[in-house]
Amino acid sequence: MNDYNILFQNRAKDYHLAMQEYPNVRINEFKSLISNTNFSDVTMVLDIPSGGGYLKKYLPEHVTIFSTDFSEGFKNDDIQLVCPEKLPFESNSFDAIFSLSGMHHLKNVPLFVEECLRVLKKDRNFIFADVKKGSNVDFFLNNFLNEYNSLGHRGNFFYQNYFEEYPNIQNKIINCQYNDYPFLFQNQTEMIRFFKLFFGLDKASDTIIFEGVRDILGIEKTAKGFEVNWGLIQYTLKK
Ligand SMILES: C[S@@+](CC[C@H](N)C(=O)[O-])C[C@H]1O[C@@H](n2cnc3c(N)ncnc32)[C@H](O)[C@@H]1O
Repeated sequence: MNDYNILFQNRAKDYHLAMQEYPNVRINEFKSLISNTNFSDVTMVLDIPSGGGYLKKYLPEHVTIFSTDFSEGFKNDDIQLVCPEKLPFESNSFDAIFSLSGMHHLKNVPLFVEECLRVLKKDRNFIFADVKKGSNVDFFLNNFLNEYNSLGHRGNFFYQNYFEEYPNIQNKIINCQYNDYPFLFQNQTEMIRFFKLFFGLDKASDTIIFEGVRDILGIEKTAKGFEVNWGLIQYTLKK
């Protein structure tokens, strides 16, 4: 692991607070991750890294979900602490594996993907979504957040041919697409507070946060409130 482990131990508390105070802001992001999965024959699901286990509420009740994270900051009775390079599960255990925005700080992404494929059952899918290199979200995280979070941010982001040197992984990709959708807020105050907590923007004033979000990501005012543009590249791998 790397310094990000320490970094997220500090960030986890405010990140979780943002998710608790505003549980519906990222509804489109979670729904997009699972939108192509038919859960009728899915029982065992792995969410990795799960943060505070936010995916759970979007899954059908019959599903048993294992919520796991790499950072001590999220560990509790419901969230198991795991090492991305050696997962503590038997091979061929899961009917589906999901990973949302949690791979761009890993030291060894291919090894983690291999581990996910190992613990996945044959013919089943590992679906992950993360930041697309060169996107507005990349710029927001590696420039704006890097400047206004005192711990900085340097993520290694994803692109279509990311795995071309890893045929064992590349051959299993059955879909790779960019999905965009808005984060949803009732008003500007809520939007600023969410961004401050969720991204740890301790060095930015409310005005700087508002202008950064508006100029880099884009804000749309609708009848429902405030929408902030977001989007991730999503891969589906079939074992
Ligand atoms: C942006 S959060 C995403 C969490 C959750 N999937 C969600 O969508 O809210 C990133 C997660 O990755 C974990 N993580 C990623 N790389 C890590 C590393 N190298 N060390 C420790 N934790 C890491 C963090 O603990 C955190 O839970």
